[in-house]
Amino acid sequence: MEVTFKIRRYNPESSDAKSYWQEFTLQDVEPTNRVLEMLHRVKWEQDGTLAFRRSCSSGICGSDAMRINGRNALACKLLIRDVGEKIQVEPILGLPVIKDLIVDMEPFFDHYRSVMPYFVNNNPLPADGRERLQSQEEKDLITDTTNCILCAACTTSCPSYWANGKYVGPAAIVQAHRFIFDTRDEAAAERLDVLAEPNGVWRCRTIYNCTPACPRGISVTRAIGEVKLAIRNGSPEGIIDPANIPTHE
Ligand code: SF4
Ligand code: F3S
Ligand code: FES
Repeated sequence: MEVTFKIRRYNPESSDAKSYWQEFTLQDVEPTNRVLEMLHRVKWEQDGTLAFRRSCSSGICGSDAMRINGRNALACKLLIRDVGEKIQVEPILGLPVIKDLIVDMEPFFDHYRSVMPYFVNNNPLPADGRERLQSQEEKDLITDTTNCILCAACTTSCPSYWANGKYVGPAAIVQAHRFIFDTRDEAAAERLDVLAEPNGVWRCRTIYNCTPACPRGISVTRAIGEVKLAIRNGSPEGIIDPANIPTHE
């Protein structure tokens, strides 16, 4: 089949440095080809200057989030048959464009770093030398949010984030959730304080763009709601109902 790509281009080194649309037509495309593969074909066969990020090509590294036909997605996970013969590709919104489909991720990672996205427990390990163990039920509290690959598809689909880039954003809240509800961690109160600030969770207006944008199927809005409840409660204890934990079956 023939497929036409309409790609948003931007070259900071050009004399007028304005973004513009450019079309590329590819022949002999299979419906089961992935959008990322076809972007490679555009680059290798037609225009070597086309710039985009990618690494694993397997939905693992999170580096190729783009806006494809108006929705955020990982180019390496989307099949041509699911997006059609005319495909519009542009950079994710809300972050500065560096070149073509490549955005500056630093503002996104600044928010990520602000929520202490690491395990905190300064107590010595158990005397028997074993690791800090959890029950399956305790692990289930964070299984969903540990799936995050920091692709930014959620944060850059959020109108609250577009309106105010100081909003910490859903991805950072998902990462905070993963540690706030980890029963072995001891810094939940500090993270909840950070997220109770004006640019924390309360900037979320439950618009729900973030959840369908997540390529990992994480219940993003739900995780944000659980963090909001933990702030109101003053603690993460008892917030998550084990009967309602999302599964990925
Ligand atoms: Fe990407 Fe989903 Fe993580 Fe958001 S929650 S950064 S969409 S993997
Ligand atoms: Fe934005 Fe998702 Fe909340 S789209 S407003 S973070 S529910
Ligand atoms: Fe790694 Fe798509 S290239 S997630």
